[in-house]
Amino acid sequence: MSYNPFSLIGKTIVVTGASSGIGRQCAITCSKMGARVVLIARNEQRLSETLSEMEGDGHKLISADLTEFNKLNGIVEGIVAITGPIDGVVNCAGISATMPLKLMNDAIMDDFFKVNVLSAIELTRHICHIGHVRKEGASIVFLSSVMSVRGERGKSLYSMTKGALVSGVRSLATEYARRAIRFNCISPGAILTPINRDLPHMKNPEARAALEAKHLLGLGQTDDVANACVFLLSDASRWITGQNIIVDGGYTAI
Ligand SMILES: NC(=O)c1ccc[n+]([C@@H]2O[C@H](COP(=O)([O-])OP(=O)(O)OC[C@H]3O[C@@H](n4cnc5c(N)ncnc54)[C@H](OP(=O)(O)O)[C@@H]3O)[C@@H](O)[C@H]2O)c1
Repeated sequence: MSYNPFSLIGKTIVVTGASSGIGRQCAITCSKMGARVVLIARNEQRLSETLSEMEGDGHKLISADLTEFNKLNGIVEGIVAITGPIDGVVNCAGISATMPLKLMNDAIMDDFFKVNVLSAIELTRHICHIGHVRKEGASIVFLSSVMSVRGERGKSLYSMTKGALVSGVRSLATEYARRAIRFNCISPGAILTPINRDLPHMKNPEARAALEAKHLLGLGQTDDVANACVFLLSDASRWITGQNIIVDGGYTAI
C-alpha cells in the first residue's frame, strides 16, 4: 500500500527550536516522514544531538539567535540557495515563565514578545517572499499553547504571547490564501520538556499532581505534538487554515 496523504517525502521543512523538546521531536518525526529538515536554534551541540536521531539525508543545521532580526533574511536566502523553495515551517522556539504581574517589567515583556511572537513572525515574513516558498503553496505552523485560551496564575505574559499567535494566524490565513500558504497554530497542554521542568507547576509534587489531574489523559509527550505538526505540514490538511488545533489530553474539555 503506497497511499499516505501524511507523507512529507519531497518537502523541505524548517523547524525552529530544534535543539530541544517539542522542536527536537518535530525535526526527528518530520525526517522519519521523509522530509528534508532545516533545524534552527542557538545551541549547536544540541542541534547535532537532534540530527543524530534523525533519518534520511540532506538536513541542515543553523545555529542562530532568532531575535537578531537583521540576520533572518540572510538566513532564509541561505536556506533557499541550498534546498530550493521551502514547503513548511514549524515555529517552535519559545520561552516560558510563571510570573505574576507585580514581577513584570518592560524589559521582561519585551524579551517574551521578541522570542515568542516577533521572531516567529519575522522569520515567516522572510520565508513567505515570492521565490522562497514553493509556488504550489506551503504550510506555516506556530506553537501556541492552551494558555492562549485558558488562564492560570502567573501565566498572563506567556498567555499574551501565545494568544497573539492564535489571533495572527487568522488574518495571515486570509492574506496568503491566494498563494495557498496556510497558517495554523497548535496549542499543546503540558508536556515535560526543559521549558517547564524547573517551573513551580512541574517541580513541586503537589502542583504537578494537580496539573496532571487537569489533563484527562495525563501529561503529553513531545511526539503527541510532533504528530499534529506532521498533519498540518502534510497535504492531508490542505483545506485547513487560520485554525488553532488544541492537543492537550483533554485539559480544555473540563
Ligand atoms: N512543553 C510544554 O508543555 C509546552 C506547552 C505548550 C506550548 N509549548 C510551546 O512549544 C514550544 C517548544 O517548547 P518546548 O517545551 O520544546 O521548550 P524547550 O525544550 O525549552 O525548547 C525551546 C527551544 O527554543 C529555542 N530558543 C529559545 N530562544 C531562542 C532564540 N532566541 N533563538 C533561537 N532559538 C531559541 C531553544 O534553543 P536554544 O536554547 O538552543 O536556542 C530550544 O530549542 C514553545 O514555543 C512553547 O511555548 C510548550
